[in-house]
Amino acid sequence: MAPLTSEYTRWDRRLAREIPFLTGIFRERGVKSVLDVACGMGRHAASLAQAGYRVTGIDISAEAVASARAHAREQAAAVSFLEGSFLELSRVIPGPFDALYCVGNSLSFCTSEEEMQRALGEFRAVLRPGGVAVAQVLNYVGIAERGERLDFVRSFPRDGSEEIVVKFFRFGEPCWDVEFVTLKKQGESWRAEIDSGSLLALPRETFRRLWGEAEFTDAQFFGDYARTPFDIHLSRDCIAVAFAPG
Ligand SMILES: C[S@@+](CC[C@H](N)C(=O)[O-])C[C@H]1O[C@@H](n2cnc3c(N)ncnc32)[C@H](O)[C@@H]1O
Repeated sequence: MAPLTSEYTRWDRRLAREIPFLTGIFRERGVKSVLDVACGMGRHAASLAQAGYRVTGIDISAEAVASARAHAREQAAAVSFLEGSFLELSRVIPGPFDALYCVGNSLSFCTSEEEMQRALGEFRAVLRPGGVAVAQVLNYVGIAERGERLDFVRSFPRDGSEEIVVKFFRFGEPCWDVEFVTLKKQGESWRAEIDSGSLLALPRETFRRLWGEAEFTDAQFFGDYARTPFDIHLSRDCIAVAFAPG
């Protein structure tokens, strides 16, 4: 998969969009305790802790957890991070939590529909009755329809030189390949590194059905973090907000 040290992520832009969306929902539901599922480098978790939430972050990658802990320390943010899979949440961190979120398309790391079904069952199991889950995946149908294979090209400084990352998709069914080409400048020449991964590219209708099967209620789907209603043709994201039975 992509290099974890994702300096190319525009954290300021992401957090400026995503944190107000999350805190808006949390305020509406009186949320105090939050689980960041697949927390990655822990930027959201640290930001929410600084906003006064009691936050726990979990990720399957030891490297991600180490990076998240270091970031929280730097920011003096009180977050507890642990290593574990979202397929085993109830065993590793039973909660219950008032809320959880799983962003950055992390649920698409499931390898099958059955696995995503299991993950959503685990989400419900660690929420208190009436607790809220937020999960963002890509709107695969819309992106394929629009032929948007190139996700981004970004350059950033690294070790006094320059690096360029190109991220693009290969459409498939039920999985897409996601490819990262990293170009590193060495003197006058460039060296290329290629990483790839696989994303479970479920259409929204399947995603919606899985939330129902996991016994979540009142699931709503947004197309972006400004709460634009999901549109299969126009949206880039598919953001589910759903509730554990009360
Ligand atoms: C694209 S990153 C997103 C990270 C973070 N949520 C964000 O928005 O920046 C996907 C994350 O999912 C994690 N992940 C993949 N499969 C997982 C699993 N089964 N359980 C927990 N984390 C998982 C990866 O280690 C990675 O940190």
